[in-house]
Amino acid sequence: MNHWIGAPIDRADGILKVTGEASYAADFNFENLIYGIPILSTCAKGKVVKIDDSDALKIPGVLTILTSQNTPEFFPAKSDFGTASQMGEIRLPLQDETIHYAGQYLGVVLAETLESAEEAEKLVKVLVEEEPPILEMEKNLSQAYSPKAFFGEPLPVIRGNFEKAFSEAEIKLEEIYTTPVEHHNPMEPHASIAVWDGENLTLYESTQWVVGARNVVADALKLPREKVKIISWFVGGGFGCKGFIWPHTLLSSLAAMQMKRPVKVLLSRRHLFTTVGHRPATCQKLTLGASRSGKISALKHHTITHTSFVGEFLEGSGGASQNLYDFPNLQVIYQVVRLNKGTPTFMRAPGESTGLFALESLLDELSYKLKIDPIELRLKNYAERHPETGLPWSSSNLKECLQIGAEKFGWKNRNPDPGSMKQGNLSLGWGMAVSMFPGFRSPGSARVKILPDNTARVESATQDMGTGTYTTMKQIAAEILSLPPEKINSFLGDSSYPAAPISGGSMTSASVGPAVEAAAKKALQHLIDTAIKDKASLFYRCSPDDLQAKNGNLIFKTDPSKAETFGEILLRNNLPFLEGEAFIKPDQPDKKYAFQSHGAQFAEVLVDPYLKTIRLNRMVGIFDVGKILNLKTARSQAIGGMIMGIGMALYEKTVYDLTTGRVVNDNLSDYLIPVMADIPSIDVEFIDKPDPYFNSLGVRGLGEIGITGTAAAIANAVYHATGIRIRDLPITLEKLL
Ligand code: MOS
Repeated sequence: MNHWIGAPIDRADGILKVTGEASYAADFNFENLIYGIPILSTCAKGKVVKIDDSDALKIPGVLTILTSQNTPEFFPAKSDFGTASQMGEIRLPLQDETIHYAGQYLGVVLAETLESAEEAEKLVKVLVEEEPPILEMEKNLSQAYSPKAFFGEPLPVIRGNFEKAFSEAEIKLEEIYTTPVEHHNPMEPHASIAVWDGENLTLYESTQWVVGARNVVADALKLPREKVKIISWFVGGGFGCKGFIWPHTLLSSLAAMQMKRPVKVLLSRRHLFTTVGHRPATCQKLTLGASRSGKISALKHHTITHTSFVGEFLEGSGGASQNLYDFPNLQVIYQVVRLNKGTPTFMRAPGESTGLFALESLLDELSYKLKIDPIELRLKNYAERHPETGLPWSSSNLKECLQIGAEKFGWKNRNPDPGSMKQGNLSLGWGMAVSMFPGFRSPGSARVKILPDNTARVESATQDMGTGTYTTMKQIAAEILSLPPEKINSFLGDSSYPAAPISGGSMTSASVGPAVEAAAKKALQHLIDTAIKDKASLFYRCSPDDLQAKNGNLIFKTDPSKAETFGEILLRNNLPFLEGEAFIKPDQPDKKYAFQSHGAQFAEVLVDPYLKTIRLNRMVGIFDVGKILNLKTARSQAIGGMIMGIGMALYEKTVYDLTTGRVVNDNLSDYLIPVMADIPSIDVEFIDKPDPYFNSLGVRGLGEIGITGTAAAIANAVYHATGIRIRDLPITLEKLL
């Protein structure tokens, strides 16, 4: 029976995307359209004294310029539905004169053409009373605060007695690992097209959360939520920066309502570096005590990171040390410094990706110190239960990931001595690290409709940010309805469909998938009920238990030759469709199990002994994420995550000018991300065992786990090749000189 769930079918949206038929937000055009271009602050701290827009307003086609002088009040969103709907930056735009970072919105030019808007934006003169900005967290530690909680869990985390265990430890290590500011850089920049018809507001957005966007916009403008609709049919990547709602969306909405015309606000690549979040830098000091045999008795994970003056965000790097290994004595401590930089936000595996770089590098260092194989060291510290809560794992296959990965990679042939392995003139390095991401779920809902032409449709206000949701959701319905997936269409990315959570925290499959399954079951039940009440049906007065769906037919279980197509049943009863709708809430009333995904990554690098160029030669990634819905889109997600991890390891770093606070490399030629030539062969395999307790499908998410551990695996391989330990990302060749 398990036929369509898991099948490596092609993406439902693949042809549309490669032929350019898929309409992304900026592709929507309307009669009488107005273009909006944001005016951004070029200084990082101060007060706007005057905005002189007289020259800008003389440009033909310029209609008006919104600034704090003429923008009405916005209102904060009321939170509901799982994750709170909120702005990425708590402060609402254009409400006052204070400047908190370079790139802050000071206004929006509205014009008849994009060219007029862009030209006018350059002519707006902003007079600012400047103050010296605070830009470096290490130099401003005296201003740091210690957050009291992280997602409702109290901080700092204290387990056992770190001081005592550390003082008694045979082996002690203390190292500092640093990671820079990184930017999400999805291929598709953010865009917002607002259409106001005098009563209803429709927004064409690029968002990871149509429901959240609707709620925030409606609340901000004091519109009833049912009068606001968000369309986001296709999203060209997000990685977290499209999870919450940023100022351009409120400004396009407001402008459309004021001007009574459709308004398109487009962000350029440059805008993406200041106005839609980033991963904050971290400085992580790890202090470890262990026995000579490799059992870690004490660990302190002290993270220094930053947020802005107008938003709260914590990069939870210490979660890696809290949730992965059996560390009986633990301290997880944070210090957050407010800087005059934009507000940080979630970026793929927020916390885990930075935290595991530190922890999995440190474990590698310990393995050399103790002369223990790195895999064996991890097994010695394996947590039989969730180390923080003590709950049993619902399903944990970390040991299998390590074992399969080691076999595929050929780990047993590794000579552990640094610099001992060669390929031609180059030093060969092999490194490994563990991957980890918690299993998250939220309430989700969906509707499934069976149609008279023997097709079906799935409707849910979730969204496909490139992950494969269009495809996997129809596979789930196909499984239940026993219809081939090509007979089913998914309709997503529209806030008027049944509500679904943010596509963040790797939870779309786990939250929406079970709702699609339940909705399809209900739709099928309605079909069966209709048939057995229908005098003209073969199944009139049959017991529902004797019937089943099979390839678009309803059949007798005992005699499949007795069959009626879904369409016959609907047509005979004059039904345009039969539907089922379901709302599924994660229910775990007594918290019996801990849900977490695990994995193992292996990297091979080649380092030139003289030039120190680093070439990644191959990688292996093994992941345990529960049941796989579609092997093809899942592999693509895991490979994508690993490639982003390669970027983190070797290339990515946002550079700020320390005088002005502006981003120096706010473009894709200076902000380096991996290109095809940088990416080696990546071999991905899944354990593919259903999680028995997480949800009805046994599926945990996999959007984020791929990036976790990658940077450490590569750093560990570089050490193995060279004997040089780089604790500061990215690992660029000058650091090896
Ligand atoms: Mo993800 S960083 O939760 O979009």
